[in-house]
Amino acid sequence: MTLRVILMFAAALLAGCERPPIETVQRGFRGTGMAEIYNPRTLAVKAELNQPPAATAPASPGGPAAALVYQNVQVLNDLSIGEFSQLMVSMTAWVAPEQGCTYCHDAQNFALDDKYTKVVARKMLQMTRKINADYKSHVAETGVTCYTCHRGNNIPANIWFKAAPEQRSAGLLGDRAGQNTVSTVANLSSLPEDPFTPFLLGSEDIRVHGTTALPTGNKHTIKQAEWTYSLMTHMSTALGVNCTYCHNSRSFADWNASPPQRATAWYGIRMVRDLNNQYLEPITKVFPPHRLGPTGDVAKANCQTCHQGLFKPLYGAAMVKNHPELATQRPSLLPPAAASAPVADVALQ
Ligand code: HEC
Ligand code: HEC
Ligand code: HEC
Ligand code: HEC
Repeated sequence: MTLRVILMFAAALLAGCERPPIETVQRGFRGTGMAEIYNPRTLAVKAELNQPPAATAPASPGGPAAALVYQNVQVLNDLSIGEFSQLMVSMTAWVAPEQGCTYCHDAQNFALDDKYTKVVARKMLQMTRKINADYKSHVAETGVTCYTCHRGNNIPANIWFKAAPEQRSAGLLGDRAGQNTVSTVANLSSLPEDPFTPFLLGSEDIRVHGTTALPTGNKHTIKQAEWTYSLMTHMSTALGVNCTYCHNSRSFADWNASPPQRATAWYGIRMVRDLNNQYLEPITKVFPPHRLGPTGDVAKANCQTCHQGLFKPLYGAAMVKNHPELATQRPSLLPPAAASAPVADVALQ
C-alpha cells in the first residue's frame, strides 16, 4: 500500500520529465551554461514532421505575360504564363491540396474576386515577396514560400489572436493583469499569456535592464520584466532552443557577448511586427467572422508560425531557390500604358 502511494507520487513527480537519453552540445565558453540539450527520440519525430515539400521543375520564364493573357492579374503581372501556371499549381499544393483551385476560384470564371480566399491570397503573395526581398537580414537566401507557414493547411497551424477581455480579470481575485494562469504560450508557466499584442503587434520596449544608473530612463518594473520573459519563452519554444542559443548567461543584455543568432532574432521581431501591421491587420474585413478572434481581430503571425519548433524553419531547406517568382516583385511585363495602372497595393472590396 505505502509502496503504491510512493510509486504514484514518483510517477506524478516525473510526469513532466523527458525520458532519456539526453545529448548536450556545448555552444559557448565553459561555465556560461551555453549548451543545447537534445533528445534523439524527439529529434527523429521533428525531422519527420518538417520535410520540405517536393521540388517542382523550374517554370520557363519565356512566353507571353500572364497579365496579358488573363483579365484580372494585379500582383503577378511580372510573370510569364509558364511561371504563373506553375505558381498556381504550387499554391494549391501548399495551401489547399484537398479543395484544389476552387478554394480560391469561382469555377465558372477564374478572373472573379468573389471568394475571400483569393483576395487574401493576393495579399499573401505580396507579403511573401516582401519577406524574401526586404527581410534577408532574417530569412537570408533561404527565404519562405506559402508552405513555410501553411504546410498544406488552409490556416497555418500556429497563429495568435488578442486575448479576450474576460480573460484579463478574475472576479473576486481582482485583475490578473493577463497572467497568473497556466499559459500554453509561455510554455505552461504563469507568465503573461499574450506577449504578442505589446511586442509583435505593438513595439513596446523588450527590456529588463535599465540603461542608466539613476531611475531616470530606468523604469523597467518587475511586471514589465514578466512580459519580456513571456516573449522570450515563446521565442525559445518556437525555435526549440534554450535561452543560451541567443544569450550569454553571464549577461543577458550584453549584445557584444551574445551569439549572432540574437541579432537574427532582433530582425525577426521587426519583421513579424511589419507582417502583422502591414499585411494581416489591413485585411481583417476581408475574412468571414468565423475566421476572426474573440475580439474580432485577424489571425496573426509569431515566431512559431514559420519556425514550428526548429532553429530554422524546415531545418533551413532552401525555399525561394526553386521559386524565384516569389523572391521579389519584378518590373511589370505589361506595356507601359497598362502598367501605369496602380498595382502597388491591392484594392480591397
Ligand atoms: C490560394 C489561392 C489560390 C489557389 C488555390 C489558386 N489560385 Fe489562381 N489565383 C489566385 C490569385 C490571388 C490570383 C490573382 C493573382 C494576381 O492578382 O496577381 C489568381 C489568378 C488566377 C488566374 C488568372 C485569372 C484571370 O483571368 O485573371 C488563373 C487562370 C488561375 N489563377 C488559375 C488557377 C488554377 C488553374 C489553379 C489550380 C491549379 C489555381 N489558380 C489555384 C489564387 C489562387
Ligand atoms: C508568414 C506566414 C505566412 C505565409 C508565408 C503565407 N501565409 Fe497565408 N496566412 C497566414 C496567416 C497568419 C493567415 C490567417 C489565418 C486565417 O485564415 O485566419 C493566412 C491565411 C491565408 C488564407 C486564408 C485561408 C482561410 O481559409 O481563411 C489563404 C488563402 C492564404 N493564407 C494563402 C497564402 C498563400 C497563397 C501564400 C503564399 C503566396 C501564403 N498564404 C503565405 C500566414 C502566412
Ligand atoms: C532566438 C533568440 C532568443 C532566445 C532563444 C531568447 N532571447 Fe532573450 N532576447 C533576444 C533578443 C533579440 C532580445 C532583444 C529584443 C529587442 O531589443 O527588441 C532579447 C532580450 C532579452 C532580455 C532583455 C535584456 C535587456 O536589455 O534588458 C532578457 C532579460 C532576455 N532576453 C532573457 C531571455 C531568456 C530568459 C530566455 C529564455 C527563456 C531568452 N531570452 C531567450 C533573443 C532571444
Ligand atoms: C516568415 C517566416 C519566419 C518568421 C515569422 C520568423 N522566422 Fe526566424 N527564420 C526564418 C528563416 C527562413 C530562417 C533561416 C535563415 C537562414 O537560413 O539563415 C530563420 C532563422 C532564424 C534564426 C537564426 C537561426 C540560426 O541558427 O542561425 C533565428 C535566431 C530566428 N530565425 C529567430 C526568430 C524569431 C525570434 C522569430 C519571431 C520573432 C522568428 N525567427 C520569426 C523564418 C522566419
